[in-house]
Amino acid sequence: MTAKMAISLTVNGEEVETLVATRTTLADFLRQDLQLTGTHTGCEMGACGACLVLVDDHPVHACLMFAVQAEGAVVETVEGLTTRRAIADLQSAFHERNALQCGFCTPGMLVSAYGILAAGALPSREEIRDALSGNYCRCTGYEAIVDAIEQTARLRHEQEEQA
Ligand code: FES
Ligand code: FES
Repeated sequence: MTAKMAISLTVNGEEVETLVATRTTLADFLRQDLQLTGTHTGCEMGACGACLVLVDDHPVHACLMFAVQAEGAVVETVEGLTTRRAIADLQSAFHERNALQCGFCTPGMLVSAYGILAAGALPSREEIRDALSGNYCRCTGYEAIVDAIEQTARLRHEQEEQA
């Protein structure tokens, strides 16, 4: 019999209280139990970044964490960031710059990019590349992704200066 535990956490602003199998990863819990399929699973060993979500505001590989370890945490997925329009400008820039092809890596890229931009500074291309070093994309060649993040960072910076 699979052991289950009660957990209570916040996911995308909603309180979730449920029973979950102790061996279920946070990625599988989000995808299968909560139908938040924007969190993708690729390598399932912490190498590709497709499963990145925010846990207490830090990007975390959801494939490397058990759901029970998220007890009491505040989890935000790409769906949550989208709903509260925290990445609307980034998503437009990805679209404009053709920064996705198959889109498999895109949720993880957006979560990473959110983290880079949330730091508030104006990152160099080198810093953006560095921050994306844990995100694997097999389609775009990264140039357009870096362009989109750089463009968003610049626009946000200009808007802040004018405010
Ligand atoms: S699925 Fe988690 S890092 Fe690849
Ligand atoms: S757009 Fe296909 S893996 Fe990145």
